[in-house]
Amino acid sequence: MTTTDTQAEDLRNSLIDHIREAGHLHSSSIERALRTVPRHLFVPEATLQEAYANKAITTKPGPEGGRPASCASQPTVVAMMLGQLDARPGDRVLEIGAGTGYNAALLAELVGASGEVTTVDIAPDVSRQAQLALEATGYGRVHVVTGDGVRGAPEHAPYQRIIVTVGPWDLPPAWLHQLAPGGRLVVPLHWRGQARSVAFVHENGVLQARDSQLCGFIPMIGEGQDGERTGRIAEGVALYWDRDQPIDVEALQGVLEEPGTTVWSGASVVPNESTDRIWLRLTGTEPGTCRFAAAPDAINSDLCSPAFAYRSPGVVEGDSLAYLTLRGPEPDAVERRWELGAIGHGPAGAQLAERVCDQIRAWDRDRTEQPVITAYLAGVPLGELAGGQVMDKQFTRLVVAPHTRCGSLPMITAGRRTRMRS
Ligand SMILES: C[S@@+](CC[C@H](N)C(=O)[O-])C[C@H]1O[C@@H](n2cnc3c(N)ncnc32)[C@H](O)[C@@H]1O
Repeated sequence: MTTTDTQAEDLRNSLIDHIREAGHLHSSSIERALRTVPRHLFVPEATLQEAYANKAITTKPGPEGGRPASCASQPTVVAMMLGQLDARPGDRVLEIGAGTGYNAALLAELVGASGEVTTVDIAPDVSRQAQLALEATGYGRVHVVTGDGVRGAPEHAPYQRIIVTVGPWDLPPAWLHQLAPGGRLVVPLHWRGQARSVAFVHENGVLQARDSQLCGFIPMIGEGQDGERTGRIAEGVALYWDRDQPIDVEALQGVLEEPGTTVWSGASVVPNESTDRIWLRLTGTEPGTCRFAAAPDAINSDLCSPAFAYRSPGVVEGDSLAYLTLRGPEPDAVERRWELGAIGHGPAGAQLAERVCDQIRAWDRDRTEQPVITAYLAGVPLGELAGGQVMDKQFTRLVVAPHTRCGSLPMITAGRRTRMRS
């Protein structure tokens, strides 16, 4: 072993120790795979320290000022998603988004010699690089395909597991068709301005979620993936919503300059405690749920006071809106807790703020509750759907209901909840 190999192994082991302590390791087989695959050989332009930091590494820049076109995902996200996927020896696995090839190598370790891994990337230069790195590290048996992942990879289907490592707005029918009955699809899906890594199980032609975790991924390009809409409602304040929502930013111009109504929920959090399931609950109860994004200038000038500058849940109804806010503890408070609330503007603003607070309180009663998320193929009659909010995408009808479902498969235990990026 060279000095570099030993150094790399030490750094790799420290990184995996960190992932374990953060609560993102869910099996000894995933731990073994992470300790085995040499991540630094998949990101040759990074230093050893960069390769083994818990960070995403850009490997192909995107347009000026935009998100990268390709990257190696953050290691805690990789571990969390592999936990959701639960790939077993002998499985046939499809990955959409080959990137560096690193995750495909981990999958190859997990499925072993009797399994099969296929990975697809839309960018020929990226898939070529992934192929070279996989061959150089002894994982040349992985099938690397160049093409739009929207079509899956029918030549190696059916798959027991499909993992998507780029952020789609919709679930193309090919994924459902190529997933074996009872198989799992793990996908960082975008809806109502947020992105969650959802672990779906294929049950009778329907995808039923078993778990979902907040995450952030570079958006998928390709057919049917351009369903998110965005618009400005004031200087430095934008909303993000889906194309099936009748949100009209023209009707909201000037609404933040009008006096608002603040409602406090009584529920509170400590620093870094996650509130992402409030947003998830809102997507299952409020048809106008969206993302409220404010630049620092808009906050510093007291135009608005969202809980998180660029990423707070908001709810729009016609010419009114409400968004999540929080207030810090009194200077002499014994416990450093932040109370959650909502600020509403416009004719129905106060009512909307009350409704957001109702959902904060419902979340507070059981913060571990997993809403029911079901994806049907588009066109399924409304009468055949599970109860909840229906979101129509191009290929899928997504239904979210804010109650726990007692499924036949156990829920996956979540690690410590922090916002994670790909
Ligand atoms: C976050 S990277 C994937 C990371 C990768 N799994 C790894 O281990 O390094 C996302 C990749 O998805 C690819 N991508 C984007 N849209 C795609 C599509 N429609 N089909 C297939 N790949 C796509 C990008 O080219 C990029 O390489």
